[in-house]
Amino acid sequence: MLSREENELLTRVGPGTPMGQLMRRYWMPVLFSHQLEKPDGEPMRVRVLCEDLVAFRDSQGRIGLIDEACPHRTASMFFGRNEECGLRCVYHGIKFDVEGNCVDVPCLPPGTPENQISAVKKNMKIKAYPCEEAGGVIWAYMGPQELRPELPDLEWMRVGDDQKFPSRHIQECNWLQGLEGGYDAPHLTFLHSGTAEESRRIVPSFYEVVPMDFGFVVGTGRDFGGDEIMWNINVMAMPFHKIISSQPHAAHMWMPIDDENTMLYSIDFQPERPFTEEELARSREFHGIHTENFPGTDVATMNKENDYLIDRELQASGHSYTGMRGLGIQDCAVQESMGPIADRTKEHLLIGDSAIAQIRKLLLQTLKDMEAGKPLPGTDPSSFRGVRSARYEAPRGTVFLDEVDDRIRVSVDA
Ligand SMILES: [Fe+2]
Repeated sequence: MLSREENELLTRVGPGTPMGQLMRRYWMPVLFSHQLEKPDGEPMRVRVLCEDLVAFRDSQGRIGLIDEACPHRTASMFFGRNEECGLRCVYHGIKFDVEGNCVDVPCLPPGTPENQISAVKKNMKIKAYPCEEAGGVIWAYMGPQELRPELPDLEWMRVGDDQKFPSRHIQECNWLQGLEGGYDAPHLTFLHSGTAEESRRIVPSFYEVVPMDFGFVVGTGRDFGGDEIMWNINVMAMPFHKIISSQPHAAHMWMPIDDENTMLYSIDFQPERPFTEEELARSREFHGIHTENFPGTDVATMNKENDYLIDRELQASGHSYTGMRGLGIQDCAVQESMGPIADRTKEHLLIGDSAIAQIRKLLLQTLKDMEAGKPLPGTDPSSFRGVRSARYEAPRGTVFLDEVDDRIRVSVDA
């Protein structure tokens, strides 16, 4: 349970809010690289952290991420002409480069002296954020330049295109609901299970949370009654990364669009080899973490509007606990059902919610650290380089803490 003030503090991400300031200290995913494929191609609207922006790839292949509103008369730059190293507003032809510099003002009267044109251009800068591409993702940095960290270095970002399957979709709820849902260990046994019978057998018995300098590691132990405990290790890297223990390996990022909407990035990947045709087919079936979206959008076809196409007969049949198809859709249904911003003053957390409690503790502490000018967890990529999730069996009585580092680190070159 959180106080009303704490809940507000952790969920609001607009400019000037504490959590918004914190998010802006990290590189944020804003698009997949393939969404801005060609130089001088179509611009894309991007809404992140309550800011309306437009992204484009210029003639030299560089990415621009600028304010959607033209600083002249505030018309949308989305309709802009992407040409000769800049995006030109279609209202009056004013043009900006990827750094936000105004490079042409063709609407001034003929014969305007050069020094006046320069003065107009100087005044007409458009807000622009630096972008980098890595791992098939376009990352933006929206914080103070002097505090700009290195790009994150996660295992899925290093693998080839044939070793991963990425997708994204919009969740109609606050980012923290999504992130917390990702660390709700006991829900796997219910929400995502095939039958009620099966679910009762495998509720985890052990929950271990280990703080790390990049976030934390959570271990969930299932006891099948033998000599071994089956452990699942999931990794949380600040501020919204999850490395999931699954086969194939997987990762999530819950990127806030605004206070009430979240872009969930989901990546299946194989660290050592290309996907087989069978694995690709499985990712494409949308039974797992990926959703089927309306063509050309990030909106899932099964959504809040249509009650996620819940099939009550399927639910009653015993083959699906929810009657909803696909893990991603099942997660959306429950997370969105809490409202756009869950009221955490009304909850009653249980022992299986220890990782959720850890998320809140970590975020509240990091806000304090930011205020005190301390370095922030997860901004140094070397702290989580080569970190992965894991599943393994360990003899009953093994101390989780003693093993955790060996289990989650693989050696990679910097
Ligand atoms: Fe889930």
